[in-house]
Amino acid sequence: MPVNSAIEILPDEEHLAEAAADRFIGIVESTLRYRQVADVALAGGSTPRAMNVLLASSPRRGAIPWNRVRFFFGDERTVPPDDPESNYRMTRETLFEPLGIPAGNIFRMHGEDDPQAAAAAYAQVLVRELGTRPRFDLLYLGMGPDGHTASIFPGTYAGIDDTKLVVANWVEKFNTWRITLTPHVINDATHVVITTGGSSKADAVHAVLDGPAEPDTYPVQLVAPTDGELHWFIDEAAGAKLVRRPGVAARSSSA
Ligand code: 6PG
Repeated sequence: MPVNSAIEILPDEEHLAEAAADRFIGIVESTLRYRQVADVALAGGSTPRAMNVLLASSPRRGAIPWNRVRFFFGDERTVPPDDPESNYRMTRETLFEPLGIPAGNIFRMHGEDDPQAAAAAYAQVLVRELGTRPRFDLLYLGMGPDGHTASIFPGTYAGIDDTKLVVANWVEKFNTWRITLTPHVINDATHVVITTGGSSKADAVHAVLDGPAEPDTYPVQLVAPTDGELHWFIDEAAGAKLVRRPGVAARSSSA
């Protein structure tokens, strides 16, 4: 585990989503004390969806001046923005529309375009908006049962040019291209949050956090912020095989 990281175990997926939402609020509030805007990169998947719904609902929706938050994406499927598979569509429906996020604050990956062109175009957006070394204030990631994160899947890292900011990544298991931030952009973020829930993740959580470094097999092990913080939120089911040790905090259901 990277030195500047913490692991928190929540009783269930509901508490997991609540913890992820509350960390969003805490990090964005603290960021806005010294920055005009907070730049956040979001993930796709079921836990991010649940977090989005909480953020867009009372009382949390009232906690943030949403016009001071800019939204980016960690990865995207190579589909149009209104496709049911689109991470953008999921986020638009659960977060952007309910909160009335201004279109100018949303920077989506163009999954409908040629993958390589879309990746290059998004890298240019990051440089234009965040500078030549893009640093997200807050970046969310999920983890699949195979240990993938963003759209970096097992066996694909070798094919990723990690000197780039964004790449098109061929994912054999799905026979498709994906667009994804590279590990070096992810690791330049100030705060990284990984949310992982459900029993299907238990083996991967144990291998990733208790086992040896095998990042090609478990790409989420590539997540090691350069000088930022990494916070894992894991529910009891996903953490069932995790070795309890100092640094692994368990939050009770009454919390
Ligand atoms: C995606 C996500 C992906 C996701 C994991 C976990 O595009 O699907 O970016 O990396 O976060 O697959 O998804 P769940 O939380 O739904 O298991």
